[in-house]
Amino acid sequence: MSFDHFYYKEVRFAKDVHTEESINHAENEFEVFDDDIYNVTYPKSGTNWMIEILNLIKHKGDVTKSSAVPIHIRSPWYETVTSEEHIDKLDPPRIITSHLPHHIFAKSYFKSKAKIIYTMRNPRDVIVSLFHFTKILSLFTPTENFQNFIEDFIEGKALYGSWFDHIKGWMQMKDDERFFFITYEELLQDLRGGVIRICKFLGQELDDAQIDSVVEHSTFKSMKENPMSNWSQLPSDVMDQSKGAFMRKGISGDWKNHFTVAQSEYFDKIYQEKMKDLNMSFFWEQSS
Ligand code: A3P
Repeated sequence: MSFDHFYYKEVRFAKDVHTEESINHAENEFEVFDDDIYNVTYPKSGTNWMIEILNLIKHKGDVTKSSAVPIHIRSPWYETVTSEEHIDKLDPPRIITSHLPHHIFAKSYFKSKAKIIYTMRNPRDVIVSLFHFTKILSLFTPTENFQNFIEDFIEGKALYGSWFDHIKGWMQMKDDERFFFITYEELLQDLRGGVIRICKFLGQELDDAQIDSVVEHSTFKSMKENPMSNWSQLPSDVMDQSKGAFMRKGISGDWKNHFTVAQSEYFDKIYQEKMKDLNMSFFWEQSS
């Protein structure tokens, strides 16, 4: 997986999007507020979907903001070089996005009452989604070699490092009352149920019509058609969607159309090894 990168605490970051200073700031200087809500994911796991859901919940289903403000400005990735100006303009409670692993996340978070929603996805589908994403985002040099791509992913050479370490790091917080986790697959299976659980975690009381509106406007179709959510606002020299849509398929199990049987068996073996200490079973393990 080829992109200009640097390492920070053994994690790979993309140059230009991040700098050592921006990551250091995110880890050591960023001020977390008690009423902040953090949307944390490994890339391609449903980050944008959760931004949409959380912002709609915040506004009780009202779409004024989500039809007017681009998604990365509604909930900026706080570790990037360009986030500060957008974060300064957020109304409370701030909904802030991050792909940072647990060991680099804002130190001030751990002394705060702020909440985290962590969304995970079947790593095989993460690989496929990322593989296509590298074709449209200019910071990557795309490859057609899917086997190498899988190997790089396993070795932690993707953006933000190893998926396995990300999950294992964040799952240390699974019993913390400020931490809520959900899978992309659960949201696909029952979006309304997921929204209701998130509202409960956030202490947000929405009536049925408001929940209906959150669900309606956070479906794949609605987001794909919303120019403020489908990244069509970005110039094509940054993201060229003539080569493939950011809102690509929005399904679970697309990995079956990309992995050979040998690749699937190879990945399963590594998955079992790397995840064995975690003692958790994930939704995609039953459904994949
Ligand atoms: P695919 O490439 O498999 O289609 P992220 O936001 O973390 O970058 O993840 C992007 C992935 O989430 C893409 O997956 C995208 O299509 C999918 N996605 C975004 N919004 C979605 C939604 N409302 N419903 C289902 N999938 C969604």
